[in-house]
Formats: sequence, structure tokens, C-alpha cells
Amino acid sequence: MRGNDLNIGVLVSGSGTNLQAIIDSIEAGCVKARIVCVISNKADAYALERAKQHKIPAIFIDHRDYNTREAYDRVLVEKLTEHGVELVVLAGYMRIITDTLLDAYPMRIMNIHPALLPAFPGLHAQRQALQHGVKISGCTVHFVDAGTDTGPIIVQAAVPVMDDDTEETLSSRIQKEEHRVYPLAIHLYAEGRLRVEGRGVIVTPHIAHPEVSFQNPPA
Ligand code: GRF
Repeated sequence: MRGNDLNIGVLVSGSGTNLQAIIDSIEAGCVKARIVCVISNKADAYALERAKQHKIPAIFIDHRDYNTREAYDRVLVEKLTEHGVELVVLAGYMRIITDTLLDAYPMRIMNIHPALLPAFPGLHAQRQALQHGVKISGCTVHFVDAGTDTGPIIVQAAVPVMDDDTEETLSSRIQKEEHRVYPLAIHLYAEGRLRVEGRGVIVTPHIAHPEVSFQNPPA
């Protein structure tokens, strides 16, 4: 484990396939980060099991124990701070977050959404895409702001929508891309290559080591 790795905290509510993709990318050395805690608002979220299997602190905080969303988010902030979290990653976290969390981590919370935002924000994005009859959909990693799926877009990937697609088949095609682009977005953040400018995110191109030359046109 390297000392300058980015500390990330992952918030989950469900199966955690995106969490798994992030864990695998970190373990493969593709993302310079470490997951310092996984927090779920659901006791039976399989994502907690995935965390335990990789010796990552897996924490359940029951939202029903708190009267307001703010009170719940205050405890979240406490836990995240306690673990030294620098970037919060929402991976299938099914709760609306409040200013309490947003103010503690301004432009330091990422989310993944199963549509090409700004199309089809909110719940059941794949169903919305099918009902609308779009030919291309996909997924979006974005920074979280106060709106619903409205924050600055970091990475998107597109997939075709087939005539015989069901919500399940389209979701599974989109998820394959999610598992690729979420680790990529975290990698770019960990390398300090993301800069929010207005609505957008500028991605700094990779700067070659000065001793490494490149040629143009490529061989
Ligand atoms: C993903 O489809 C993601 O786009 C949405 O929630 C789902 C989480 O899936 N935000 P998983 O728990 O990572 O398998």
C-alpha cells in the first residue's frame, strides 16, 4: 500500500457490483486509491459482504434510527472523516443526500447513473430509455451537486439499445460499461487530472515523462 494513495469511502445499498469493479481495479494496480470504508444503509446489502471478503471495514448504519436525512448524513460525515476519506463514491446508494454531506465533501462525491445524462435522471433510467425509444443509452459518472443526477459529468460510455431489449438486458449491457468507467473516473481523480469548470469537468491529458519521447504521426 502506497502512502500517497487516495482514501475513498464507498456508500452502497445493494449488490455492489460497481464496488467489486473498483476493488478489482485497485488490487490490479490500475487505480492509485484505497477503500478505507464501505458504508451501507441496508443491513443485507451484499456489497458489505464483498467489502469483508477484501478486509475492508464494512459498516451498516440504519437510516431508520434517525429522524431526518440531515441527522443521518451527520453520522455519515463523522464516520467518513474518522476513516480519513478524501473522496466519497456512491455505488448503488439509494438515498437522497443532503447539504450536510455535500458541504463536507464539495465536488468530492461521485455517482454513477445508468443513462447518458442529462437524459433520464432519477429512478428506473433504463426503463425510461426503453419507453422513450432511444437507440443509444449508456452510463455517466458525475460529481454530485444538490440536484438529482445534475452534477458535472466526468466520464460517459454509450451502448446500443436493441429492439428486443428488456430492462434486464439493457441494464446488464450498461453495467459492463459502468464497471469500466467508474474505476477510470476514480483513477483520473486520484491522479489529480479532473478540474471542475462551470458545468463541465476538464480532464488533463496524461503528461508523458520528460525522458519519454513520442512521435507524430505514430508508427
Ligand atoms: C448501478 O446500475 C448504478 O448505475 C446505479 O445503481 C446500480 C448499482 O449496482 N446507481 P451495483 O450495486 O453496483 O451492482
